[in-house]
Amino acid sequence: MTKLTRPSLSPLKADHFFSISETSDQDLITLLTLADYYAALMQSGSDIPRVLTGRTQVNVFFENSTRTNSSFELAGKKLGADVLVVPVAASSVHKGEALLDTVQTLAALNTDAMIIRHKEAGSCKAASAALGAAGLSTCKILNAGEGTADHPSQALLDALTMFQSLGRTPDQGLHGIKIAICGDIRHSRVASSNAQLLPRLGAELRFVGPEALLPPEESYPEIDRYISLEDGIQDADFVMALRIQFERLPDGLALSKEDFFQAHGLTHERLAPAPKAFVMHPGPMNRGVEISGALADDPQRSLVLKQVQNGVAVRMALLDAFLHVGHNSP
Ligand code: NCD
Repeated sequence: MTKLTRPSLSPLKADHFFSISETSDQDLITLLTLADYYAALMQSGSDIPRVLTGRTQVNVFFENSTRTNSSFELAGKKLGADVLVVPVAASSVHKGEALLDTVQTLAALNTDAMIIRHKEAGSCKAASAALGAAGLSTCKILNAGEGTADHPSQALLDALTMFQSLGRTPDQGLHGIKIAICGDIRHSRVASSNAQLLPRLGAELRFVGPEALLPPEESYPEIDRYISLEDGIQDADFVMALRIQFERLPDGLALSKEDFFQAHGLTHERLAPAPKAFVMHPGPMNRGVEISGALADDPQRSLVLKQVQNGVAVRMALLDAFLHVGHNSP
């Protein structure tokens, strides 16, 4: 059996992980290559080098999360870090403490990496400025989902899942690959981060959904938009379904959930124009709204659980690359 060795990679240019658009091409390939290595290492059952022994990671999620919070926690623990998951519901946040005080307090625990999820755009940058002002700038900030614009680690795990399905390495890119993102694109930070990443990797990206859930045309002039699911998924290699973000639709949706499923829900039958396509979903899924339960559970078509698994590898890569000092040692 060939021994899996950590790829020798250049140190990252970025200090923090705020968004895909603020991450260089080289850093993106470094992170994806490292994630590919960690995915293979976990798959092989080999011991995982505890490169983060003695380092402290704090997860502070001001919005609900199942996959992202638990996979960042597992990733840090697998690499040997001390991981604190702040129970926000029970914290002083509910005594009126400002975000920036919370962040400074948590960074003062000699924290090396803080993983932040927040509903406001710009929270991670504001947190990093507050840490700088308090002399705590060695703490790296990793964005775990912020507002409607950025969820960069989700985009990386989606791309990694595509590379694996295609049998490609990240440096080979996604040239010639057609990807349709379907559903509530307007309110989705997953769609936004993927739109920042997938075309840069060479993929052809399309947005598919009812007009009310598509972003304004001028926001993404390069991306083709389709109202018809049939047209939008034609010959796609990957079809990604997204949840309707009802919490971000103050007036609700004119369509009922049943009507949405009829017109835009993904099923085996409706995938006919894309006979080779794999189906993806970042979760949480609403079965019978954006996707049928039968399709979500079909191991021949659905990559949903593979995405969850790759979430750990991607977050290991992020923690390793941003925190591991002896960067190029084997
Ligand atoms: C997404 C999120 O929180 O942005 N979930 C995730 O992190 N996997 C998508 C969603 O909430 O619909």
